[in-house]
Amino acid sequence: MERTFLMVKPDGVQRGLIGRIVSRLEDKGFKLVAGKFLQISDEQAKRHYAEHVGKDFFGELVGFITSGPVFAMVWEGDEIITLSRQVIGKTKVKEALPGTIRGDFAAHTPHNLIHGSDSPESAEREIANFFSADELVQYEKSISRWT
Ligand code: GTP
Ligand code: MG
Repeated sequence: MERTFLMVKPDGVQRGLIGRIVSRLEDKGFKLVAGKFLQISDEQAKRHYAEHVGKDFFGELVGFITSGPVFAMVWEGDEIITLSRQVIGKTKVKEALPGTIRGDFAAHTPHNLIHGSDSPESAEREIANFFSADELVQYEKSISRWT
């Protein structure tokens, strides 16, 4: 079973889309393991986006993700890193297909509503940047054999 770090970005929070985004992840059959509503610090944002250090949009990225509260989450499921990125849709809005979160709700490229880890290594690092081990809840979902 794989874990991933998903986060409703400030645009998703401001637009009142937390519930609908979480619903899409629940609808897919993923299992929620942790959730936290918070304002990210500058240091936490820079750690989160460490892979983009040096890119010309890095400053803009950190500014955006710290511009308002976010809803940070850990979700679990088989191959969830790949599958959740399919549910989220492509980074650029012109490429994000209808039926995906970004394809259905986002109309402006950097404001693409939700972050999703892109590898197991990123997921582990990103989860540790937002949650302590005891905040990850272990439980069984009785429906899990069907999803
Ligand atoms: P995340 O799930 O947010 O990590 O998106 P991603 O994995 O689909 O894209 P990537 O990691 O390559 O980029 C991270 C985020 O940076 C994107 O979601 C965008 O919000 C933003 N971003 C990517 N490219 C650009 C760019 O050219 N300009 C600006 N301003 N932002 C960008
Ligand atoms: Mg990324």
